[in-house]
Amino acid sequence: MTSTFHVRGGRPLKGEITVRGAKNLVSKAMVAALLGEEPSLLRSVPDIRDVAIVTELLKVHGVKVDRDVATGLIRMDPSNVERAHAAEIDAHAGSSRIPILFCGPLLHRLGEAIIPDLGGCRIGDRPINYHLDVLREFGAHVDKRELGIHITAPNGLKGTKIHLEYPSVGATEQVLLTAVRAEGVTELTNAAVEPEIEDLIAVLQKMGALITLQTDRTITIEGVERLGGYEHVAIPDRIEAASWACAALVTKGDVFVQGAQQKPMSTFLNVFRRIGGGLDITDDGIRFFHPGEPLRSIAMETDVHPGFMTDWQQPLVVALTQAEGISIVHETVYENRLGFTSALNDMGARIQVYRECLGGSSCRFGWRNFNHSAVISGPKALHGADITVPDLRGGFSYLIAALGAEGISSIHGIDLIDRGYESFREKLTALGAEYWED
Ligand code: EPU
Repeated sequence: MTSTFHVRGGRPLKGEITVRGAKNLVSKAMVAALLGEEPSLLRSVPDIRDVAIVTELLKVHGVKVDRDVATGLIRMDPSNVERAHAAEIDAHAGSSRIPILFCGPLLHRLGEAIIPDLGGCRIGDRPINYHLDVLREFGAHVDKRELGIHITAPNGLKGTKIHLEYPSVGATEQVLLTAVRAEGVTELTNAAVEPEIEDLIAVLQKMGALITLQTDRTITIEGVERLGGYEHVAIPDRIEAASWACAALVTKGDVFVQGAQQKPMSTFLNVFRRIGGGLDITDDGIRFFHPGEPLRSIAMETDVHPGFMTDWQQPLVVALTQAEGISIVHETVYENRLGFTSALNDMGARIQVYRECLGGSSCRFGWRNFNHSAVISGPKALHGADITVPDLRGGFSYLIAALGAEGISSIHGIDLIDRGYESFREKLTALGAEYWED
C-alpha cells in the first residue's frame, strides 16, 4: 500500500537546493552506451526511478552497470551485450517510454529487439507510430506480438531520408541512436532540437559518431562501423529547476537552484519575469523569488524548443492562479495535458478548459475534440484538499499548490514523483516545508 503525503501549506519556501542531470538526457545517454564497444562514464546522474528502470534494462541485456548514487557517477560496460529473455523485458512493461529507444542499439548489437508495452505519463495517447515508421525506414521489420513488439533487421540497417510530420523528441532520438551505426548517410528533416537532444548528439560525437545539426532543423548523420565509449557530464534538469522556481513563486518564497542554467531555460526565464517573478542569474545557479508585488497574468503557448516547454506548463499554471487578471495557456504539444486543472479548481482556483486554440496560433489539436486551452482567473486563494497525483509533472504541480494553500492537503500516489524529481522530500525539508507521510 502506498503512503499518503500530507502538506501543511502557507510557508514560504526559502533556501538552496541542487539539481543534477536531466532525466530526459540521462536515460537516453544510458541507452547510447549500448552502442559502444568500450565502457562509458556518465556524471551528474540523479537518483530517480527512471534511471533505475534503464539500469535494469541495460543489465538484462548483459551491460555491466556500476553506480555511485551519492556522486552521481554511472559506469556502463557493454562488452558482453546479450539477448534478454522476453519475460525479463516484459517485467518493465508500462514503467517508462525509454525501452522503445533500445531498438536501434539492440538491432546493431544483436540483430533483434524485443520491446515491452510502454508506460510513461498518461498525458495523451502518446503513440509510438513515429518510432516504428522510423525503424521501418532504416529497413527493420516490426512484428507486434502478445508480449510486446519484436523487431528484426535481416538485411542490416541502412541510412535513409526521413521527414518527421511533427518534431517529436523521441522520434528524433530514435533516428540518432539508429543512424549513427547504420550503413550510409541519414538525413532527418523537421527534427526536434531540444537542449537534451543537443547533449545526446554531444555524447554520440564523443563515441565517434558523425552528426551535423543545421540551422533549419535538419540533422545529417554519417553512419560509422564502430563506436567507442564516452565520458560526459549530463546537462542539468531544466524541468526540475523550473518546477522549484514556480514553487518559490506560489509560496511567496526565495529559492536558489544550484545547477540551473540560463541558456536552456531562457524562454522560461522570460515568462517568469513577465509575470512578475524575481530572478538572479549566476554562473552557479539561479535564484527565483517572489518580489512582494502582485503577479501579472499572461497569454502564452507551449511549443517545441526554443518555445515554452510543455513540461513547464503544469507548474506555471499553478503560479498563474496567483496572478492578477486572466491568463491564457494554449498547450500545443500534448492533446490532454490540462486534465490536472480540475483538482486545482477543487483547491479554490478558477480555471476553465476549452477545445479551441486560444490566445494565438492554431495547432494540430484545434479541430479535434481535446481540451487543450486553459483560461485562468486570478488571483485565487488556494485551500487544502484531498488530491491524487495524475502524472509526473501534474503531481509536482499539486505539491506546489498544496505548499501555497491554506491548511492541510493530502496527496495520494506521491511515489510517481520519484520518477523524475530527485530527493524531493529532502529538498522540501531544506526549504522549510511542513509535510508528513502515513
Ligand atoms: N507522438 C506521436 N507519435 C509518436 C511519438 C510522439 O504522435 O510516435 C506525439 C505525442 O503524442 C506528442 C508529440 O508527438 O503529442 C510530442 O511527443 P514527443 O515524441 O516529442 O515526446 P516524447 O519523446 O515521448 C519527451 C519527454 C517528455 C516531454 C516531451 C516533449 C522523455 C522521456 N520524455 O517525450 O517528458 O514532455 O519529450 O518535450 O524524454 C516528462 O519528463 O514528464 C515528460 C513527459
